[in-house]
Amino acid sequence: MIVPTQTMQANSTNSPIGEVPKHVAIIMDGNGRWAKSRGLPRAEGHRQGTENLRHIIRACVEFGVEILTIYAFSTENWRRPPLEVRLLMTILETVIDRELKELDENGVQIRHLGRLDQIAPILQKKIKYACDFTNHNSRLILNVAFNYGGRDEIVQAVRRIVREGIPEDQITEDLLNRYLYTGGLPDPDLIIRTSGELRVSNFLIWQGAYSEYYATPTYWPDFDKNELRKAIAEYNQRTRRFGKTDEQLDKED
Ligand code: IPE
Ligand code: IPE
Ligand code: MG
Repeated sequence: MIVPTQTMQANSTNSPIGEVPKHVAIIMDGNGRWAKSRGLPRAEGHRQGTENLRHIIRACVEFGVEILTIYAFSTENWRRPPLEVRLLMTILETVIDRELKELDENGVQIRHLGRLDQIAPILQKKIKYACDFTNHNSRLILNVAFNYGGRDEIVQAVRRIVREGIPEDQITEDLLNRYLYTGGLPDPDLIIRTSGELRVSNFLIWQGAYSEYYATPTYWPDFDKNELRKAIAEYNQRTRRFGKTDEQLDKED
């Protein structure tokens, strides 16, 4: 991954694109259809999609996004043909091997959202290593949702709460929040889905309660920096009321 240091220092205040969402989450969808539309195998779509991710990480840093969460493999993706599942696992392994050093040098802190226990031990080890290795970084938090499902995340959180014997009257939204994989991080401001699908597919179902959603027909491998700019521009047109009236919001300004 190439992330020029100078660009990395740009932040929201000198960005030409208006208010930059602090936390952007992306459902990177449409790799298969991208390939199919070109008469290529699905694997090529995943390869191009992975390549595209490097550019989007770079653009996020340049725009001043502080947290980027990417949906790379869902708990439901195990239902795909075994060969494709294996390929998606291999891709993550390769990305860690190939990009870790550079991501670290560019101040990216990698975090994993999801279950590790169903993943092959060697990949588990690499994921843990990548997280530990970049733990000290703070320029961009990159949450990799891999073997992630929003419902599963809530179930795992509740199990831990019960295991720790937390009394009923201490169970609040804040507490549950802390037990999620994203514990301690702010909710996503903007959730982008590529490839034209208008569904959440089990992604950040708790954290996305008040996120702004943005859908584009563009397939993930074609979702470039300019597309990200467009998504952020549309985000800027939205009024985030959080249940309040416009009159209340005017007074707060
Ligand atoms: C997204 O692209 C990548 C993953 C879900 C891992 P898809 O593989 O879902 O592509 P489409 O939706 O079949 O086009
Ligand atoms: C969502 O995409 C999961 C990821 C992008 C990793 P899918 O392609 O798996 O979603 P569905 O099955 O169309 O809902
Ligand atoms: Mg898909």
